[in-house]
Amino acid sequence: MNYGAGGYPMQVHDVKEILIDKHTIAKRVDELVDDIAAGPSGNLIVVGILKGSFVFLADLMRSFHRHDIHPRIDFLTLSSYGSGSTSSGEVEIIHDIREDISGANVLLVDDILDTGRTLSATKKRLLARGAKSIRTCVLLDKKARRAVEFEADHAGFSIDDHFVVGYGLDYNNLYRELPHIAKVSFHD
Ligand code: PRP
Repeated sequence: MNYGAGGYPMQVHDVKEILIDKHTIAKRVDELVDDIAAGPSGNLIVVGILKGSFVFLADLMRSFHRHDIHPRIDFLTLSSYGSGSTSSGEVEIIHDIREDISGANVLLVDDILDTGRTLSATKKRLLARGAKSIRTCVLLDKKARRAVEFEADHAGFSIDDHFVVGYGLDYNNLYRELPHIAKVSFHD
């Protein structure tokens, strides 16, 4: 067993196989923003779920410039429930947004929609604070992994159940800097 930079055990692996290249991502980000801009864009606040959303959210924000839309921005950090736990599916807020979202059109952004627990629970919490609307936007959608009924309003790419990294996504907090989405291949 190897140990990564944070001291976590890591299997021998590589991240050489590119699943979605950076040009394809850039084109899709603009298309997503075109769709989002066609909806309610007054009093818009973009809320990113950390850490994974930060790269995607930065590119989405820059793309709003083409539509002359000027969203507010904020971030949430949530507790991880751990891959083995399906007990309550409860998602706790560790670091909350500071913006007042009452009456706002919220765009909730995440890098990947997997079991659906994160976005489903977060959307409910933000709606309870009086948001006028909440739309969700994810770069990647792993439909095969869904454990709760949830669909994103805007999804960049549907992917099979591969372990993927890059463009904000990680393996033990590594590889978030890759400009593309890569598959993690594990070796003996
Ligand atoms: C990942 C991802 C989503 C969530 C999706 O976060 O960024 O927030 O899991 O999974 P779900 O649909 O099964 O809820 P992770 O806990 O790995 O934290 P990170 O964003 O800090 O990498």
